[in-house]
Amino acid sequence: MNSSKTEATIQAKIKSREQVIEITNLRKGFGTQEVLKNVSLQLFNGENLAVLGKSGSGKSVLIKCIVRLFNPDSGSINVLGEDVSELNSDGLGELRKKIGFLFQSGALYDSMTVRQNLEFPLRRIKKNLNQKEIDEKVKEVLENVGLSDAIDKMPSQLSGGMRKRISLARTIVVDPEIVLYDEPTTGLDPATSDEISSLINDVQKKYKTSSLIITHDIECARNTANRIIMLHNGEVYKEGELALFEKSDDELIKSFFK
Ligand SMILES: Nc1ncnc2c1ncn2[C@@H]1O[C@H](COP(=O)(O)OP(=O)(O)OP(=O)(O)O)[C@@H](O)[C@H]1O
Ligand SMILES: [Mg+2]
Repeated sequence: MNSSKTEATIQAKIKSREQVIEITNLRKGFGTQEVLKNVSLQLFNGENLAVLGKSGSGKSVLIKCIVRLFNPDSGSINVLGEDVSELNSDGLGELRKKIGFLFQSGALYDSMTVRQNLEFPLRRIKKNLNQKEIDEKVKEVLENVGLSDAIDKMPSQLSGGMRKRISLARTIVVDPEIVLYDEPTTGLDPATSDEISSLINDVQKKYKTSSLIITHDIECARNTANRIIMLHNGEVYKEGELALFEKSDDELIKSFFK
């Protein structure tokens, strides 16, 4: 499929406004600290949604609630038609298999080679694949992130940008329907950040994922987002397309979009 056709397919999918994540009135705090006071948002099928907010605004807490690494204090989270709070551990396990999570820290297994890092989730989640299929899948995702040569390297032999790309490969190797990216470009130089942003777009096009991209990197949001949500003081401060933010006179928004 050529790229304009792919783009049109993605746009049509997003326009159908089928929700893959629906968060309603989410509240989550720690002790007396209120982090998320009242957050409602939807992720539509096929879209890249960027969630912006200052450091400490609760972005990581938000995505950890989505996969129930944290239990909300109140509110509801529906993912792929399931109410996350009502799932038993088997149900939660099954749902998590459909969600790729790129952790802020990257979190590769340091004692395993790149190949082993990619095989590990495949063996756990795609139990019916044989060795040949596993090899092919590992090869395919490494090609997609431009790191075929790194297959037998240890994470310690890779640069920060390469580790991020391998983490991304590990996230997509199991064909998730939804990908949650937590600060995919933090700590990278501008050129490497741009490479990661274009990989995020490649994942959207090639694997037809719906993605939540948590970031305080405005360039990453500019390069990847079909829509943007800004969090502030535990609530959704503004929601809309990039142009709405770029032309805003609001001081808080301007402080991000300089
Ligand atoms: N497990 C926890 N226990 C107690 N407080 C926590 C916990 N996790 C997060 N917090 C608090 O919640 C607030 C929001 O944290 P969070 O990590 O979501 O911020 P963030 O928006 O992701 O920031 P950054 O951009 O720096 O990653 C912080 O004040 C943090 O200290
Ligand atoms: Mg964070």
